Amino acid sequence: MHLQDLPNASDDATFFGGHGSRPEDWGAHIPAERFSHLALGVTNLDRSEEWYRDVIGLDVVGRNLTAEPLPHSVLQMNTGQLMILVQGREIHIPGRSGVHHGFMLTPNQYRRAHDRLKELGYDIGDERQQYRAHGEYSIDIEDPDGHRYQLQTYGPEANLPMPGAGIVDCGTPDTYRVGDVRAFKDGNFFLVRHHEGFLALSRWCRHMNGTVIYQKAHWHFVCPFHDATYDRRGVDAPFMGNRAQGPLHLHPITFGPEGHIRVDTDTIIPRDGYDASQAAQPPAAELAAAR
Ligand code: FES
Repeated sequence: MHLQDLPNASDDATFFGGHGSRPEDWGAHIPAERFSHLALGVTNLDRSEEWYRDVIGLDVVGRNLTAEPLPHSVLQMNTGQLMILVQGREIHIPGRSGVHHGFMLTPNQYRRAHDRLKELGYDIGDERQQYRAHGEYSIDIEDPDGHRYQLQTYGPEANLPMPGAGIVDCGTPDTYRVGDVRAFKDGNFFLVRHHEGFLALSRWCRHMNGTVIYQKAHWHFVCPFHDATYDRRGVDAPFMGNRAQGPLHLHPITFGPEGHIRVDTDTIIPRDGYDASQAAQPPAAELAAAR
């Protein structure tokens, strides 16, 4: 889900590299850097060459440059990867299946593509918009033969929780026992009471902004998207394959005049791990009452 039509401006590589993983997820064990070329059947080479050049923005390298016996055109992306359009008398496009390709753009490339497509008269649409995460953008488009594409990006805002809920009043400390975990819909956070004090944990998963849930039976948080797991302090569990990219962000906690716990959900506190100073202790009187 996103709340704006276009990503915030940025020339950085996207916050997420694609579905479900980023290069750093693989560490030293990255299995292949990228594909080298993609060969695609087309029925009219001139028409398709023009489309990939003017609509998608690829550079034409030349005609019939490879060992392919059929007439073909070689185009290049700014990553160096090649797209080879091969002319055939007829090609088979597999109807309304899930077969498609995706281009991952930087936010600024996406913004330029969005404007270019509008100028060229394309309807800007995204069949799966209802499934998009905060900051995730995609445009559906078909080439002249009906090959389906998605132009995609993640704006820098994908790295931030959605602001707007402001300060949330979570009641008085004496209504929480040590070990309690309470979910708050406004502001999308959990308030957890530890021996050291309270933590307000953002529910946005550090992998790709899924929403974590609390599994009471296991005393931990888990993200249903790709199973990232965090302990009750919001720290990513140290097992191989955990997709979490660090601990859940915190929100600042203050205590109001009547001792009410107040969580500022518009502010996040990034962190690399946990230490007891992150936990907010209630004022002494409430602490004594809670014992
Ligand atoms: S979004 Fe992928 S594990 Fe949470």
